[in-house]
Amino acid sequence: MRLNIYTLLACIFLATSACKKDLSPLSGCTEKNAINYNINAIIDDGSCNYFSTTPYEITIPEGFPNMTIPENNPITVEGVILGEKLFNDPILSANNNQACINCHQKAFSFSDPNQFSTGVDNIKGTRNASALINLGWNKKFNWDGSVSSLEEQAFEPVTNPIEMHNTWENVANKLNSHEEYPNLFKAAFNIEYIDSTYVVMAIAQFERTLISVNSKFDKYLRGEAQLTPSEFNGYAIFNSEKGDCFHCHGSQMFMDNSFHNNGLDNEPFTDQGLGRVTGNASDNGKFKTPSLRNIEFSAPYMHDGRFSSLDEVIEHYNSGGNYSSTVDPLMKKIGIGLQLTNQEKQDLIAFLKTLSDEDFISK
Ligand code: HEC
Ligand code: HEC
Repeated sequence: MRLNIYTLLACIFLATSACKKDLSPLSGCTEKNAINYNINAIIDDGSCNYFSTTPYEITIPEGFPNMTIPENNPITVEGVILGEKLFNDPILSANNNQACINCHQKAFSFSDPNQFSTGVDNIKGTRNASALINLGWNKKFNWDGSVSSLEEQAFEPVTNPIEMHNTWENVANKLNSHEEYPNLFKAAFNIEYIDSTYVVMAIAQFERTLISVNSKFDKYLRGEAQLTPSEFNGYAIFNSEKGDCFHCHGSQMFMDNSFHNNGLDNEPFTDQGLGRVTGNASDNGKFKTPSLRNIEFSAPYMHDGRFSSLDEVIEHYNSGGNYSSTVDPLMKKIGIGLQLTNQEKQDLIAFLKTLSDEDFISK
């Protein structure tokens, strides 16, 4: 406020408190990066408050590579709390009755027990909802790898007409006028106005914490549990040329961050998979290798949920699979089959069940 000479004189005579304020150099917080920075303040009164979040410590499990976390979206306790709330909240859907968790149900390793999920308008898709496990170590998302980050992925379901069928404008309006969300976003990101960017950032932070490494097999690796002879034999089949599963479902993540045609169909394919994304015919019929962790919980199986049990999956591989021009060279037994005995098939399933982590679906 500019004081003219008359006001100044009046102030000197009257010495009102309002005038005093105007005359004395304003004191307040003078640090630009403080949340209560006062642009008019000249003298710092020590009142500066700084925005801070609590880092969320991710413990990298033994045998896992480092998790790649985007530099602009570090995982914080505040962000994860917010992300989980958003993941579980139907507020993101057009008619307020569908949340991410409806199609990615915790008890089913964050997948859908139905072959195809039903969206808010009662329309079904053509792919089985993926289980969400150890996503922080995945490089591509969706069965066809159409997106490359969890942040990017989370934009999709909200506006997808056969999923939550909402608009981001509507989501922003609902969140900004909500009684809790503005404070939660402020705490996580120090923002005054909520928009889609921060919604997907929070959800991605939460998704990176969905880590499963406490199965019987993990305990076996840590020397805390023994495998039964059947489980052990299944492990040997899985990990040798006999079953040949490890080439694609290898490492402790039980996936290879890649795409293959595992011989489900002959051509023409009803779903081109990776080929739809790359436009390259040699990618047709290739899909993302899913992790086999918690596979016992996440039936039905394959991108289109065509198999309802692990027995059916094993029968598929045991048959050797179907020939097509893009079938993976690692599907070496096409036309011959793996020739597993009934006991060996049961052993393989027993091994797959050692990858079940009860803590992951209950805690
Ligand atoms: C109507 C059911 C439905 C809803 C609601 C839904 N999803 Fe999905 N989700 C799916 C289906 C189906 C797929 C597989 C899509 C594909 O491959 O084309 C999928 C795939 C994913 C993937 C990829 C996983 C991977 O390993 O590649 C992630 C991550 C994901 N969803 C997160 C979310 C989040 C976050 C929300 C909420 C904002 C959400 N989903 C809401 C059905 C749903
Ligand atoms: C050439 C690579 C490759 C080999 C070898 C392979 N798989 Fe797969 N597996 C895949 C791919 C890719 C998918 C997803 C295919 C799809 O949905 O179209 C898959 C899917 C699965 C699924 C269903 C997962 C889900 O979430 O729906 C199971 C279970 C499975 N494989 C087990 C095995 C077993 C057991 C073996 C060994 C007998 C094996 N796989 C060998 C690549 C492979």
